[in-house]
Amino acid sequence: MSGLPLSCSTSASSPRIPPLSLSLTDASVRGVESLRARRDSFSVVGLIPESYFAPLDLPKIYGRVAPLHVDLGCGDGAFLFALAEQMPEKNFLGTERLLHRVKKACRKADKIDNMRVLRIETSYAVRHLLPKESVEKFHLLFPDPWEKRRHHQRRIVGLDFLRDIHAALVPGGVLRIATDHKDYFDQIQEVAERLQIFQLAVSDGAIYPSSTFEDKYKAEGIPIYRLELRKVSPVT
Ligand SMILES: C[S@@+](CC[C@H](N)C(=O)[O-])C[C@H]1O[C@@H](n2cnc3c(N)ncnc32)[C@H](O)[C@@H]1O
Repeated sequence: MSGLPLSCSTSASSPRIPPLSLSLTDASVRGVESLRARRDSFSVVGLIPESYFAPLDLPKIYGRVAPLHVDLGCGDGAFLFALAEQMPEKNFLGTERLLHRVKKACRKADKIDNMRVLRIETSYAVRHLLPKESVEKFHLLFPDPWEKRRHHQRRIVGLDFLRDIHAALVPGGVLRIATDHKDYFDQIQEVAERLQIFQLAVSDGAIYPSSTFEDKYKAEGIPIYRLELRKVSPVT
């Protein structure tokens, strides 16, 4: 990833301050500088977690206690925004590493009270920033497939990632996955079955709004594979 976190959102309870990056790379610093320079023109506001090394203070960030949905790799935030509008009684968080997509998602988050966007590496956020048993539902929609065999190790879903997801989910919480890659889908199923800490169910996704990539693949007639992993206690 290009650097550590940048986050944004609108919230009456959160300080409206410019985004901050802890990145050590020149490219990322340039990105943050240009973001600062342009912040007035696209209404991104920064919400800086009190620490990047401790779990997020969710009640403080949202100004309330409510069930949390997290969209991992939220892209332009279209799906998260639609869901947050549908469910004003819940809190929504998107993680995304690409700055231009974060900006698009932030413009949407700016329009509603219950959506936040965090520019960060997803696996870092799941492991270190999300409090244990805090997430009702994770959405992992069209994760980068890393098609070449030698790149499969870069795929986000593996044993450690699913263990971290399990720890962050509330009892009975769900990780919802959609991908257009059958091979990745099969791998996810296999890893999840091996762990024995999730109940697997095929889902049709019908109750949810479409994400941007989902719309694109549907329009192209590309098959979409879906799965829901429900947290259960480890078998002892
Ligand atoms: C194929 S796009 C899907 C975007 C969105 N979920 C959708 O369905 O429209 C994958 C997104 O995940 C982001 N992404 C991939 N790996 C990531 C990671 N490790 N941490 C944060 N974002 C990541 C990419 O930058 C990209 O925006």
